[in-house]
Formats: sequence, structure tokens, C-alpha cells
Amino acid sequence: MRLKLLSTLLFAGASLAAGSAMAAGELNLICAADVVICEQMKGDFEKAHDIKVNMVRMSSGEAYAKIRAEARNPKTDLWWAGTGDPHLQAASEGLSAEYKSPMLDQLQDWARKQAESSGFRTVGVYAGALGWGYNTEIFKRKGYKEPTCWADLLAPELKGEIQIANPNSSGTAYTALASLVQIMGEDKAFEYLKSLNANISQYTKSGSAPVKAAARGETGLGIVFMHDAVAQTAEGFPVKTIAPCEGTGYEIGSMSIVKGARNMANAKTWYDWSLEPDVQSRMKDAKSFQLPSNKSAEIPKEAPRFEDIKLIDYDFKTYGDSDRRKALLERWDREIGAVAN
Ligand code: G6P
Repeated sequence: MRLKLLSTLLFAGASLAAGSAMAAGELNLICAADVVICEQMKGDFEKAHDIKVNMVRMSSGEAYAKIRAEARNPKTDLWWAGTGDPHLQAASEGLSAEYKSPMLDQLQDWARKQAESSGFRTVGVYAGALGWGYNTEIFKRKGYKEPTCWADLLAPELKGEIQIANPNSSGTAYTALASLVQIMGEDKAFEYLKSLNANISQYTKSGSAPVKAAARGETGLGIVFMHDAVAQTAEGFPVKTIAPCEGTGYEIGSMSIVKGARNMANAKTWYDWSLEPDVQSRMKDAKSFQLPSNKSAEIPKEAPRFEDIKLIDYDFKTYGDSDRRKALLERWDREIGAVAN
């Protein structure tokens, strides 16, 4: 009799414990940064909270497309990182949920502005400027001149030596497209991209792939965010990072909670946690050298500083607008994608 009572009690205890583990539950996350930082964030979060993270990594444009496709029946709870433009587009289409994190006061102006301008449907998590990285050994061996300006990338000697991502899948490449349009005007920017196409060996899916290929000697140069080029140098590869002389655009890497998220409370827990200074200070351990959005987070010594770069006043409102982004991508498909090698 006693034994039976004991086993009943034990059983009840065990199912209670299982119940509480389940109560903490899960978080379905899209991570649109590099896989190493994605894995680090997932691991750190799971250590800090009793929540299992189901993570998929994808590029920014793909993340937006997935969230849009799931709108009626969201499977994703939270979209962390990737360039801000598609996050703003999702916000303007009502795909993301409004959330005013208690962490907002701790953020840099550019990160808070991203939240305010979207009706608090997205927020800045990091920032980084666009440029390129080139393989110094290849350039030396082949006697190429160091390209310091956008114009230098059109040099005929660089035929087949450059890679950039496809702006449909990649937020990096969309930032490049929108930056060139803002620097040169739209028609001139497309003329430039057509000329540049002669030197492009491949339009990759992910934004940072071009400089990883340059680092490994598979191509001479990759147009990427400068911090992604610096990461390759930090890995020991012969890569030099350039900030274009005519000026360049930048990203506000962002985060959004999906509207109708099934695990809303857990999404908010990640949201607040990932804006904490110590979490952002640890990003450099994954060689993620962006500028963090929390004012008290440590700026990695490797991070390219905005003060040293000729930055344009990137118009996030216009280039994160749904119609504008769609129109630019369609024109890119017609005029560049269709004739790409
Ligand atoms: C890299 C960069 C991030 C950026 C992301 C965009 O991971 O380190 O700062 O947000 O690329 O990726 P995508 O593949 O969309 O260009």
C-alpha cells in the first residue's frame, strides 16, 4: 500500500517536472546572420533560459519571404538579425508584431529610430558599413591595382575576379544596390551594375559568401559588409578591407517578432535578452564584428568605425518601403539577373 502511494507520488512529481519543462517551451527562430554567431546566440540563450530554440539560418530576403508566406499561419516566432530593409518592409506590411522592449532606452539612437519609424515592429541590433575585401596575394601575384573606389571595380583586368550576392536573397546585396542608387541616381547605378556584371564571376545566395571565397583564393574580391571582410582577416586569411572612396551605405541589422507568434512570451524573452550589453559584447567571440546597438556593449576592436568611413545618409524609410524594394529588385532581375553570367 505504502509502496503504491510512493510510486503514485513519484509519478505525479515526474509528470509535474516534465510539465514545467514543457511550460517554458520553445522558440522558433530565423537567424539571418552568419551561422557561427547564430549557433552562439542559440547556445547562450538556451543556457540562460529554459527554452528550446528551433533555429533556421537564412539570408535576409529569404527570411522576409518565409515570414510573408507563413502570414496566415505563422510557424516562426522571431526573426533575429539580417539587414534592416526587409525587416522594415515586413513591418509596413503588418507581418511583425508591435513590441516596446524595456531595453529600448539603453540603445543607440540609430537602433531606437529603427523601432520608432516602424511603429515598434522592428529594432536595431547592430550596424555595419558596406565595402569589400580583396585577396592581397592574388592581387599582388596578378599585378592588379588596389581598388579603393566603386569606379575601380570596373577595371577590365578584374574580369571574373569579383563576387557579390543576389539582392533577392541577400540583404547585403540589396544594401549595395540601394546604396549605389543613392550615390549615383537610379539609372546611373544600373549602368554601373551592368558594367560591373562583366567582372562578376558569381552572384551568391548569402551576403558574406563572396569574401569567404576571396579569402580562400577562389575569387579576387568580394563586395560585402566591411565587418565580414575583417572577420576573414581575423581568421588569418590574406584579406584587406576597403571603404569605398565615393561613399557607401550601411545596414541596421534588425530584429522583429512575428505577428501571431505562437510562442509570444518566449519571443519577447529573446528580444529583451539579445539587447543586453553582455550578450552583444560576446558577439565578437563568434567573429561578428558589427557595431552593437546597446550603448554599454563593448565595441570590438576589429569593428570598422563609422567615423573612419565616408557614409551616405542611407534613407532607410525609402529603401525599406515595400513598393520601392520590390521595384528595385524587379529592375535588377530584368537588367542584371537576366543577363548575368
Ligand atoms: C552577414 C553580416 C550581417 C548581415 C548579414 C546579411 O551575416 O555579418 O551583418 O546582416 O550578413 O546577410 P545576407 O545573406 O542577407 O546578405
